[in-house]
Amino acid sequence: MTEIERCPSGIPGLDKLLNGGFPRGRTILVSGNCGTGKTILATQFVYNGAAKYGEPGIIVILEQDPNEFKKDMGVFNFDIQEFEKEGKLIVVNASLSSIELQDFFNTREAVPKSSFSLLPGEDKLDKITDIIIKAAEKIGAKRVSIDSIAALDFMLEDKTKVRKTLLNMNYRLKKAGLTTIIVADATRGVSTQGIEEFIMDGVITLHYETTGADIGRHMVIGKMRSTAHSENIHTIRFVKGKGIEITDLDEPGMGI
Ligand SMILES: Nc1ncnc2c1ncn2[C@@H]1O[C@H](COP(=O)(O)OP(=O)(O)OP(=O)(O)O)[C@@H](O)[C@H]1O
Ligand SMILES: [Mg+2]
Repeated sequence: MTEIERCPSGIPGLDKLLNGGFPRGRTILVSGNCGTGKTILATQFVYNGAAKYGEPGIIVILEQDPNEFKKDMGVFNFDIQEFEKEGKLIVVNASLSSIELQDFFNTREAVPKSSFSLLPGEDKLDKITDIIIKAAEKIGAKRVSIDSIAALDFMLEDKTKVRKTLLNMNYRLKKAGLTTIIVADATRGVSTQGIEEFIMDGVITLHYETTGADIGRHMVIGKMRSTAHSENIHTIRFVKGKGIEITDLDEPGMGI
């Protein structure tokens, strides 16, 4: 069997669980409830590309104020602004509150407060994919994070198109040689329809239990096409100045 090309996450412990890293050129869904670490994981993956592997990256922000996002990530020493200046990272500000978006679709006139305009009648997700691919060409990016797909759901006027549109986006990102993490909120948006899980090449779920036997923060690699991977539930923690770490790898049987 030929060895597949890997895209190491650089997240302590994770690459071991993936048998060397994400399969390169694939699209991975990171899903979980609020506050489970989805944004930290996706950002750490792209940031590490630039910081450790000489691979520029694109970060698409759909649900947060980009300045707030950069400040929050600064706690983990992800100095996004510095890399933006050096042309190693591009942050695409596509943030719109859902209310603004609903107004936008309802009135067809409202001007969205974002760094680029979403024009009525256009396929918005295709437009975001265009922007990602253009930005990636500009800096030679290899990695992308899209945070989050729940917001993309608002951009798809015809829900029956969700599958086709996501397949098309997945195909175009792959063709551009990009390894992509797409963040999904486990409690709402298209993820509740279970469509993305089938379209994406990999699925990682993040969990935070505050009571019961499984108390604490965990990660599960639910699926990763074309590679062996851990099938265990792993404990994770968020470390100031570093980001996410997998903490149970020294225990026997916790690798793959
Ligand atoms: N300085 C810090 N040190 C340790 N943990 C932190 C720190 N700052 C934030 N966190 C943890 O990170 C969590 C937020 O992580 P993140 O933003 O990645 O979650 P998320 O899954 O993207 O949430 P949402 O669905 O709301 O976007 C917080 O709930 C908190 O537990
Ligand atoms: Mg988030």
